[in-house]
Amino acid sequence: MNVYDIFKKVAFQLDPETAHNQSMYLLSRFPESLATFMGAHEKLLEDSEGLDLSLPMKDGNIWSFPVGLAAGLDKNAEAISFFSSIPFGAVEVGTVTPKPQEGNPRPRMFRLKEEESLLNRMGFNNEGMEKVYKNLQKSDRHGKVIGVNLGKNKVTSQEQAVEDYRLLYEKFAPIGQYLVINVSSPNTPGLRDLQNIESLRVLFEGLKDLREKVNTPLYLKIAPDLSLEDIPAIVELAREQSLAGIIATNTTIREDIGKGGISGRLLREKGRMVREKVLEAMGDDPHLELIGVGGISDFSDLLQFWKAGGRATQIYTAFIYQGPPLLLNWRLELVKEMKRLSVSKFTDYLDALREDRS
Ligand SMILES: Cc1cc2nc3c(=O)[nH]c(=O)nc-3n(C[C@H](O)[C@H](O)[C@H](O)COP(=O)(O)O)c2cc1C
Repeated sequence: MNVYDIFKKVAFQLDPETAHNQSMYLLSRFPESLATFMGAHEKLLEDSEGLDLSLPMKDGNIWSFPVGLAAGLDKNAEAISFFSSIPFGAVEVGTVTPKPQEGNPRPRMFRLKEEESLLNRMGFNNEGMEKVYKNLQKSDRHGKVIGVNLGKNKVTSQEQAVEDYRLLYEKFAPIGQYLVINVSSPNTPGLRDLQNIESLRVLFEGLKDLREKVNTPLYLKIAPDLSLEDIPAIVELAREQSLAGIIATNTTIREDIGKGGISGRLLREKGRMVREKVLEAMGDDPHLELIGVGGISDFSDLLQFWKAGGRATQIYTAFIYQGPPLLLNWRLELVKEMKRLSVSKFTDYLDALREDRS
């Protein structure tokens, strides 16, 4: 049993949101010592060269490992110092909205243990952009890439949504290495309607002048519940608007299970189908990147994504169930795989993997 298993035994006795809040409290106060205690602090690990990946990020920043932390776990950028000290290749904070907001009534986060999945209807609870900005300024990033995920306030009408995203872009473009427009959470009424092509075009046109002033790579995060036929047009729009890429996917709606969004293993197949459709639509366009997220739980999921043409991934739910040992194992697996194919760089490994017939 590792330290995380013991921690999880205690945390899983509590209701999920209480466990989350108490963990975040501890991680934000004792980031270095907890990372060390869990045996996951990067300073304790053997150097693993060549695992890094260059992605469209500001200042040419690279991901030190092809797996990052997905949005929603560190909504207020409180524990960057912890998440960046363990082997995540990048950390995405948020979703942050212009004004602070409470989110939906509790209970609003549920464990589906057998399926290693979660159901949540948090509704963008966060402390608002001023506070998140301050937290970002004072955090120790350990040289890691930090992305900021942006969302509109619930009280903001659809017509005014662009204004919210403008405020957020202006605030975070100078401080985040990449930004994400989130219009794919199922828990803010009407938000997903902004995913139709015309609304997306209005939104990105509305950001154009700000992007010309400060050019921080901008990604669009999409829902897995889009119809597969709609995906090529979204990819085309990303190309037309010079986005850095797409993050696929957010949580999925499963009304048979409950109100909210499902993440984890139950999302895996749907997420995979959407990601493969995005990759197909992107072709070999070197200007568009896909960051794959949604149900990625085992090393075999990474292999499947890489074989399909993907490179960078993120996780949330698998990290809750498996903790930092998951990252340590994946790192070891990748090093082993690279040895097997006699390559010393992750990017060469991807080429070799796609050619490998064994
Ligand atoms: C409790 C919870 C809260 C989340 N909050 C956000 C959020 O604020 N913004 C966002 O873009 N995604 C949010 N997500 C979605 C995750 O970033 C991710 O896209 C999704 O969970 C699928 O990945 P996974 O299966 O690895 O968890 C949240 C997910 C969970 C489980």
